[in-house]
Amino acid sequence: MRNLISIEDVSPGGWDALYSLCCEMIDRPGDYIDACRGKVLATLFYEPSTRTNFSFQSAMQRLGGSAFGFAEPNATSVSKGETLADTVRIAASYADAVVLRSPLEGAALAASLYCEIPLINAGDGGHHHPTQTLTDMTTIARLRGGIGGMTIGICGDLRYGRTVHSLILALSKFADITYYLISPRELRTPGYILSRLRAAGARFFEVSELTRTLPELDVLYMTRIQRERFGDPAEYDRLRGTYVLDRPALGAARGDMLVMHPLPRLDEIAPDVDGDPRAVYFEQVRYGMYIRMALLLTLTGLGRKPVPPPTAAGPDGGHVCPNPDCVTRAEPYIPRLRREDARAPGRVYCEYCDSEITRTAPHGCCHTGSTEL
Ligand code: NCD
Repeated sequence: MRNLISIEDVSPGGWDALYSLCCEMIDRPGDYIDACRGKVLATLFYEPSTRTNFSFQSAMQRLGGSAFGFAEPNATSVSKGETLADTVRIAASYADAVVLRSPLEGAALAASLYCEIPLINAGDGGHHHPTQTLTDMTTIARLRGGIGGMTIGICGDLRYGRTVHSLILALSKFADITYYLISPRELRTPGYILSRLRAAGARFFEVSELTRTLPELDVLYMTRIQRERFGDPAEYDRLRGTYVLDRPALGAARGDMLVMHPLPRLDEIAPDVDGDPRAVYFEQVRYGMYIRMALLLTLTGLGRKPVPPPTAAGPDGGHVCPNPDCVTRAEPYIPRLRREDARAPGRVYCEYCDSEITRTAPHGCCHTGSTEL
């Protein structure tokens, strides 16, 4: 792995190596205080962040390296209209690794095409968030002794929650996991994520009730309804507050269940749960720093690798991705990479955001669901 764009970039062997490095760092942090001395991290945050940004910066500093970047793009040349490609190229001239968060789906993959140093996706719109998943996997592995062989409930906004998408993709590689996907009907898990679960032969149930599901669970992963991703504020107002885990509700859960949350939480976990030994979301935050330390040490050692300028977008059949939040819509010079579903010939997906673009017509031209240039 050179870039971490999707959690699927981490092979099973890669995960084992990262996790064991992370455990060594937890046990003997003093051994690593100079491990990244002289290395520099660029943190480009086009979207608000507390944990992810702070944890990357503190991770780099604890390894003896340093970090620069922005959390407010309007203070940079982005406000003058600089493209994502150029901003990433500039940051890469000064740094040894780049961390990128963007509201655009597929932004990290697009940026990596222009980036000579390792690039880490710190969240691309409602699509993926692989380093949160490394955090979640570390928490589960440390507190349960392993990841496979469990029943997990994932609750809240499964449609727009990028941490959920990455987590399911990661867990689908482990044996014997049962999933309860708990959400309102409007916020169900995207089809391309469910198809991974089907392909893995996993047991999963899409349900809307949390209380009845609770007694089954080894892990409950709560999430916030993602207000910023809703096109219609009235729909957000209707769905917010659908799930509230409070002390009385927790009474139905097993004594050793883990309550996790990527944070920030709103009202989906009441503060009276914080003191319960099953509530591990603040421990989860700390594991996030250690696994990011392991990731940074691994990737900053890879050095610089020239990237040829990607070929221009070109008419490419005259179509663009139908997803208005796809990076290719905001940054039109990006080559339009697409992939065909090997198990459903004719179904074509945007390589950046995983939206279905079209079905290929018999004569090889694309039509349905796409927008003409
Ligand atoms: C998550 C995110 O940004 O997607 N936060 C985080 O990185 N820990 C979850 C969220 O914002 O709800």
